[in-house]
Amino acid sequence: MAAKLIKNGMIVTAADTYAADVLIMEGKIAKIGFGLEAEADEVIDASGKLIFPGGIDPHTHLDMPFGGTVTADDFASGTLAAAFGGTTTIVDFCLTSKGKPLSESIADWHAKASGKAVIDYGFHLMIGEINDDVLAELPVIVKDEGITSLKVFMAYKNVFQADDGTLFRTMLAAKELGAMVMVHAENGDVIEFLIDKALKEGNTEPIYHALTRPSVIEGEATGRAAKLAALAGARLYVVHVTCAEAVQQISEARSLGADVWGETCPQYLVLDQSYLEKPDFEGAKYVWSPPLREAYHQDVLWNALKSGQLQTIGSDHCSFNFDGQKDLGLGDFSKIPNGGPVIEDRLSLLFSEGVKKGRITLNQFVDLTATRNARLFGLFPRKGTIAIGSDADIVIFDPEAERVLSEETHHMNVDYNPFEGMNVTGVPISVLSRGEFVIRDRQFVGAAGTGRYLKRTPYSTVDNTVPAANVKIKL
Ligand code: URP
Ligand code: ZN
Ligand code: ZN
Ligand code: ZN
Repeated sequence: MAAKLIKNGMIVTAADTYAADVLIMEGKIAKIGFGLEAEADEVIDASGKLIFPGGIDPHTHLDMPFGGTVTADDFASGTLAAAFGGTTTIVDFCLTSKGKPLSESIADWHAKASGKAVIDYGFHLMIGEINDDVLAELPVIVKDEGITSLKVFMAYKNVFQADDGTLFRTMLAAKELGAMVMVHAENGDVIEFLIDKALKEGNTEPIYHALTRPSVIEGEATGRAAKLAALAGARLYVVHVTCAEAVQQISEARSLGADVWGETCPQYLVLDQSYLEKPDFEGAKYVWSPPLREAYHQDVLWNALKSGQLQTIGSDHCSFNFDGQKDLGLGDFSKIPNGGPVIEDRLSLLFSEGVKKGRITLNQFVDLTATRNARLFGLFPRKGTIAIGSDADIVIFDPEAERVLSEETHHMNVDYNPFEGMNVTGVPISVLSRGEFVIRDRQFVGAAGTGRYLKRTPYSTVDNTVPAANVKIKL
């Protein structure tokens, strides 16, 4: 493997911003220093560029059956688009089915990814039921497969939804194993009732997707999950937080010492509920669960990122074509496949709307997109920072270049971009995965199948454990 020297760039980590050169050997960062002399086969000039750790997207759905169809991006197109956007690691959700051995579902997910991924990847595992078979499999999955995050859906009734007993028992099992529990926090029972009522009243348009999933029931489910996690002494990660009510529940739980973490996504920071009212069924392009909210929630989310009440940014990439997939919900909003394409634009949106507009600092940007994700998901310090010994997953980023987000230029395999026409400042120019260029001067130079599966570390052995004894939450 040729040694590479990246010269004259500005290194940005979650903690520091400083001018230095980076020497890469055998896929790892070998030296960081000022004026390093070439021990390298190749010197890359990064004058005027930022050098930060490759993004870690903790929330993707690639090649996933959902809503009567399968997501438009698989591990080939999805990871390629991720790389263009400066992401070098994804953690994708492995779905499971009741009665089917978890190991079989994991094998299915390995088959989807292997030979296709152009960047490294790990899996979270969905838990839909707890029984003796599941409990017997979990230790092997956490320790040997390195799957250290378990996902429970509190919504999608009769599809993925688990009841509170299942959630609580998952938390108890996860705690013993050093695994983190992730929740989709919405009250699925109440949503089912509100959907039935809307449809009976003849309300079938996309906007009713948002109106039948009010923010208060996201807050309710978030608070419920946080309290159950505190009771179990488990670590909880709330995915795709969209609203003030949920932020409030997370910050309250944290202030009482509960081990609770929250993620939001770019779509909730820059789009709002009014997009669902676009004519000619175009609102279907903006159907996510939880839904886009009224615009005032955006300020709450930005402030929560700034103040540390929310800690990560995921894409929740779950792409469906407008033609042929989203239109399954013509005449019935509840049949619109939920989700949208964001994997490619996650970093640019957060940099442009966050750092450039003074809402978060450059170092917070790195923490939110990479470092905190690596720490929480058992990948640190191998991934998520620029440090000696870490994998050379590096983005060379032009903080002044501009780009217009568009379906015409994006690399996601989907026929629309929810941020169409938006101008962003800050563009990943080159992206390295374990020291090899995947993107070079904005061209793809990687190869399908070079991405490796990542076994992750249980949290009891990493540095940010909060002892359960600290939990003072009152139930
Ligand atoms: O609408 C969404 N978020 N689709 C993906 C599945 C999920 O709930 O994360
Ligand atoms: Zn070598
Ligand atoms: Zn979800
Ligand atoms: Zn999701």
